[in-house]
Amino acid sequence: MKAIVYTEFGSPDVLRIEETAQPVPKPNEILVRVRAAGINFGDLVARSFKAVTPRGFYMPFLFWLIGKASFGWNKPRIRILGDEWAGDVVSVGREVKRFKPGDQVFGFTGQRFGANAEFLCLAESAPVAHKPATVTMEEAAVIPYGALMALPLLRRANLQPGQRILINGASGGIGSAAVQIAKHLGAEVTAVCGGPRLEFVRALGADRAIDYEEQDFTKNGETYDVIFDILGQAHFSRCRHSLKPRGVLLYASFKTRNLLSMIRTSLSRGRRVVCAIAPGSLKDLLAVKELVEAGKIKAIIDKRFPMDRAADAHRYVETGRRTGAVVIMMAPGAEEEGK
Ligand SMILES: NC(=O)c1ccc[n+]([C@@H]2O[C@H](COP(=O)([O-])OP(=O)(O)OC[C@H]3O[C@@H](n4cnc5c(N)ncnc54)[C@H](OP(=O)(O)O)[C@@H]3O)[C@@H](O)[C@H]2O)c1
Repeated sequence: MKAIVYTEFGSPDVLRIEETAQPVPKPNEILVRVRAAGINFGDLVARSFKAVTPRGFYMPFLFWLIGKASFGWNKPRIRILGDEWAGDVVSVGREVKRFKPGDQVFGFTGQRFGANAEFLCLAESAPVAHKPATVTMEEAAVIPYGALMALPLLRRANLQPGQRILINGASGGIGSAAVQIAKHLGAEVTAVCGGPRLEFVRALGADRAIDYEEQDFTKNGETYDVIFDILGQAHFSRCRHSLKPRGVLLYASFKTRNLLSMIRTSLSRGRRVVCAIAPGSLKDLLAVKELVEAGKIKAIIDKRFPMDRAADAHRYVETGRRTGAVVIMMAPGAEEEGK
């Protein structure tokens, strides 16, 4: 089968198409023909992890070490990137009950990656589910990562109808899902992102949008029940006055000092800091599927690239100019299929 492989860490130029062995499903696995795969933060980090220092990493040192162990020290341990995808089931192992050949599915492989290939084997128990009939293959392919991270993280903030939430980093993979889930929960959403993406976050449902280059949300006098900081840029001391008296500062990315703030504030009855990790579970994927079917989560695609232009696709994501998701079409005609 054809796969987009990389055997050196580095710029998008390290990505190339190679013929590799097609995986064979074990008794508890399914074999999927991948139709489309999203590109997100995880792909870019794994591709260039050699250059990522503990200081430049968005998480505590221990997480960086775990990253080194899974992505590799000097050479990549993973050869094929791609953690969110959609495709059709080609064959199933004899123990598989949930799927049959021909089923259209979508899913998340997490740090195992592997979806930038024509075929992918997955355990039946992995985060893989039937593709919602309301979206195309390419739309389904760009939903899992952001929604699977945003849904359980937002749960930790216990957001209630009518509450006010500010999402710092609202135009990215996690943020764009968080805006939609927060709206679904009945919250009033303020989205913070770069100026060229203000319209995009409004199209996702944000009630207000702030360009972080134009306005510091910690200084405009507004207060929120929840501040969801995706990149971990707003320290508690900086934004505590933007939180209501019992407000929650929720971090998707956090350093040790944020963890210390979480421990300190957990003892108080006032403003709280929450640092949390999303499990990327099957249970959450099934919940995401229902939200997509109900029209509560949609995908807005900016650009599509064929498989042999994966390097261009990564380059485009790295320009920071995208307005919506970027998808690699692993099979010709995937955009017409599956709706
Ligand atoms: N806790 C977990 O379980 C978990 C899981 C996965 C990832 N993460 C963390 O999530 C982060 C990646 O999130 P993602 O995939 O959503 O990233 P992403 O797609 O790269 O999006 C980054 C977002 O941050 C915004 N941004 C950039 N500079 C900013 C600034 N100065 N002020 C405010 N916003 C700014 C971007 O806005 P513009 O593009 O509009 O400029 C964009 O909305 C990583 O730090 C990773 O460690 C956490």
